[in-house]
Amino acid sequence: MDRRSFLLAGAATLALTRAQAQMNMPGMSHGRMQGMMGGAYDALALPEGAVFREVSKLANQATKPGAFAASLTAANARAEFVPGLSTPILAYNGQSPGPLIEVNEGDQVAIQFVNNIGEISTIHWHGVPVPADQDGAAMAPVADGTERAYSFTLPVGFAGTCWYHPHPHMKTAEQVYRGLAGAFIVKPKQDPVPAGYGDTVLQITDLRLAADGSMPPDTMIDHMNGRIGDHLLVNGLKNPVLTVAAGTRRRFRLLNATNARFLRLSFGAAPFTLLGTDGGYLEAPVPGQNEVFLPPASRLDVVVDFAEPGSFVLQTLAYEHGWMGPGRPDDTSQKLLSVKVATTRSAPLPPLPARLRDIENPGEPVVTRRLVLGENMGGMGGMGGMGMAMTINNRRFDMNRVDLTSKVGQLEMWEVSNPTDMDHPFHIHGNSFQLRELVDLKTGAVTPPPRRALLDVVNVPRGHAARLMVRQMLPGLRMYHCHILEHEDLGMMGLVNVQA
Ligand code: C2O
Ligand code: CU
Ligand code: CU
Repeated sequence: MDRRSFLLAGAATLALTRAQAQMNMPGMSHGRMQGMMGGAYDALALPEGAVFREVSKLANQATKPGAFAASLTAANARAEFVPGLSTPILAYNGQSPGPLIEVNEGDQVAIQFVNNIGEISTIHWHGVPVPADQDGAAMAPVADGTERAYSFTLPVGFAGTCWYHPHPHMKTAEQVYRGLAGAFIVKPKQDPVPAGYGDTVLQITDLRLAADGSMPPDTMIDHMNGRIGDHLLVNGLKNPVLTVAAGTRRRFRLLNATNARFLRLSFGAAPFTLLGTDGGYLEAPVPGQNEVFLPPASRLDVVVDFAEPGSFVLQTLAYEHGWMGPGRPDDTSQKLLSVKVATTRSAPLPPLPARLRDIENPGEPVVTRRLVLGENMGGMGGMGGMGMAMTINNRRFDMNRVDLTSKVGQLEMWEVSNPTDMDHPFHIHGNSFQLRELVDLKTGAVTPPPRRALLDVVNVPRGHAARLMVRQMLPGLRMYHCHILEHEDLGMMGLVNVQA
């Protein structure tokens, strides 16, 4: 059944399932309707305007230079998002967002993972070029109550803005929205950007709370569209306030750690200068940008200019990504971070370098592949969320099936085609890729990206195909998938076996 007939035929039946129970919960009688298949909530008010805080760094326990050693324990914890209401969450070392990991390219990294969350988990090092057996993929679960060591040496030339999160089979979406995710910054040996710009991670997450302070489980609407919360948080706070001197130029690493939000962001009259993407620096800074776009799981390295005194708010702009069913949230003009620029002036900084690095022209592929994304809403028999399947080339993920076979160093073009009417952010494990072009599936019009950039997530807009230039550097099994985590859990994922 296709999506539209599914929605027409299924709406009445679905209204009697989990959504019904939620709508009847005390305190939820007349909130914002999320639709019949969603639930209705009075979105709780969260305090805003706390002083901005940086995420604390994971301390390095290694004693020799060039090494990083630490441990990360995932466990149940509690947070107080609303004063007086205790929310059960999942945390790494008691923190959500998880501690910031900052390492240097070339480092030998050893992280001892302790899983105490009550079910299987893993730590996946998203965007970090680690060997396949250290990738924390679903094929290597870590049982509850056990630990495992992740260790890898970071290659030189692969500095970037990465992150880490769980990747257990069918449980990734829930473990991430409950709080397990952190930033992982790989610094270059010599940073071309002067230290005076700072380096501040803004980890963006998306919180939904029920009236009792708990995080409600995903609804049918969440499975279809990905979970959109009621509150966007930056480093765990709703719209915190950062105060800076006039003339400040500040470097931010934006990390979209939400399950499913497409973040088109503006900082009002304060312009962005783009420095880098997922896989590190662009070739040159790109100044004068009024907005940036971060599909789920993507990252940007930017400098923001706060030239004159005043108030500047980082907030969401409208973005049409397609929506299935009722209850599409109004997600524009959500405030993420307020910056107050004082009248005192900061000392001038040295200028940004004119050139950051070279990104090679990948050349012509020796293999071309075609991957078609699909949404299959299933028959009426399998309702409750699980009859739904998200597919690639009409197949749902199976970790015992290898979908593609590749070779180390082989340059491939992956045409990821999205004939559905919803955007899907596509991610490949193992190594960054370059977007060659987007193709409009109706008109055939081809649009190259504005500049060369190394990505590990690319948004494939509905009705388009993205042609990616992909080259794996290390052998082993790698996952690729839609990074709307609900879609990944429902099967929009595959495995490529990279042979030595
Ligand atoms: Cu962010 Cu398969 O991962
Ligand atoms: Cu990944
Ligand atoms: Cu998707």
